[in-house]
Amino acid sequence: MAKTKTRFVCQDCGHDAPRWVGQCPGCAAWNTMVEEATPTTVKTPVLRTPKNGGSSPRLAGAYGGTRPQRLQDVSVREQPRLTTGLAEFDRVMGGGIMHGSLTLVAGDPGIGKSTLMTELGRHLAEHTILYVTGEESAQQVKLRAERLGIDPNAFYLFPETNVEAILAAAQDLQPDVMIVDSIQTVFRPDLTSAPGSVTQVRESTAALLDLTKSLPVSTFLVGHVTKAGSIAGPRVLEHMVDTVLYFEGDRHHAYRVLRAMKNRFGAAHEIGVFEMRERGLVEVGNPSALFLAERSYGQSGSVVVCAMEGTRPLLVEVQALVTPASYGTPQRTANGFDARRLQLLLAVLEKREGLRCSQQDVFLNIAGGVRLDEPAVDLAVALAVASSFRDVPADSSTVVAGEVGLGGEIRAVSRVEQRLAEARHLGFEQVLLPKANTKNLEVPNGLTLLPVNRLGQALDAVL
Ligand code: TYD
Ligand code: MG
Repeated sequence: MAKTKTRFVCQDCGHDAPRWVGQCPGCAAWNTMVEEATPTTVKTPVLRTPKNGGSSPRLAGAYGGTRPQRLQDVSVREQPRLTTGLAEFDRVMGGGIMHGSLTLVAGDPGIGKSTLMTELGRHLAEHTILYVTGEESAQQVKLRAERLGIDPNAFYLFPETNVEAILAAAQDLQPDVMIVDSIQTVFRPDLTSAPGSVTQVRESTAALLDLTKSLPVSTFLVGHVTKAGSIAGPRVLEHMVDTVLYFEGDRHHAYRVLRAMKNRFGAAHEIGVFEMRERGLVEVGNPSALFLAERSYGQSGSVVVCAMEGTRPLLVEVQALVTPASYGTPQRTANGFDARRLQLLLAVLEKREGLRCSQQDVFLNIAGGVRLDEPAVDLAVALAVASSFRDVPADSSTVVAGEVGLGGEIRAVSRVEQRLAEARHLGFEQVLLPKANTKNLEVPNGLTLLPVNRLGQALDAVL
């Protein structure tokens, strides 16, 4: 039986409440609860026994014929993956697109999500692709595909937003890959709330998830990100899908980073780097060289870090500018780095090394528009700030990696060998790294290590 009831759902996290509240009980955000009417289907399993008319005790109800299985009876077939040949994309997906997987591709409007999905047409030309477009007309998608030079036979276009029609079309066509652009435009006609609302996004995704697993088809859902940075619609979406990819980058820069935030079939935090060109997205095979291309030599406040993004080392320039504060409260701005982590590092610099930053404006920028949130970036940030504060350039042939503790100690980082190899590969001569990492370490030819225990030693070593 189905009945309609009203409830209030948080636009951020999807938490629901029976009545309106100012603050979401789930994520503590203010003014995010909106009213939604949703039919709730109540299915109560009934235990049928000889007493109430059944022959033997068994459950009747909403179960689709599946039974619990012993572990040994579960058949494991090698799941085939579709490799696109777009190496950056395949790596982020964990080695290709898993058969029957549901992937969410999230990003700011205009960042290039539709372009990336259209590119799949070029690389999976011998497979059947269904491109459901809810935002653009079929003509618009066709024009883009033409601009990208994609074979006009590459995919089937379906301008539709009704989820039932989409399911029917997919059942009919049996595609290998289905793209839904975007999930915010799709709706279930039996729900009263508007497309893009929490309920619609969640319920449409549930229906598409069912289809993905039952057909099976590899499905990509394109999702927009809100200003606050979360995927519009409920957080619950992230739990429903197998893989969450973020497509990010500065719209004024040509670089785009595709990042796996979650991947049931591969390493999370894996990244792929692309460049947006006139004729589509081009893979960047050596992103470190790209990120260092515009590096400022001999300037204070510039330090090169070797960060690990997933399984890949990445050399990036960290820039800091420290100037006396012109107004009462000094400003702290961090671009591509966690602002609170910057505050913490400033406090450590002040308390442990006597760097009086409290009356200084501090601006931090990770060059190239990438975002780094690995602990090993700490040391480079601290050194860049100190370098700008003292107006002394850091040694430009040195790469830095290390986590900074609250006591000013330098803590070990992961995967040092890979970081060293990347530094060598790009022609750096020295690596400043935590002392704890240097035990039994094989050092590539031509590279000198500068092991440090304390922040003070690191400052002395490069400034
Ligand atoms: P799009 O894929 O439509 O973004 P999204 O789907 O994430 O909203 O891409 C939008 C931008 O990309 C648009 O401003 C134009 C630019 N672009 C290029 O620079 N080169 C290209 O080949 C294409 C197709 C788009
Ligand atoms: Mg788009």
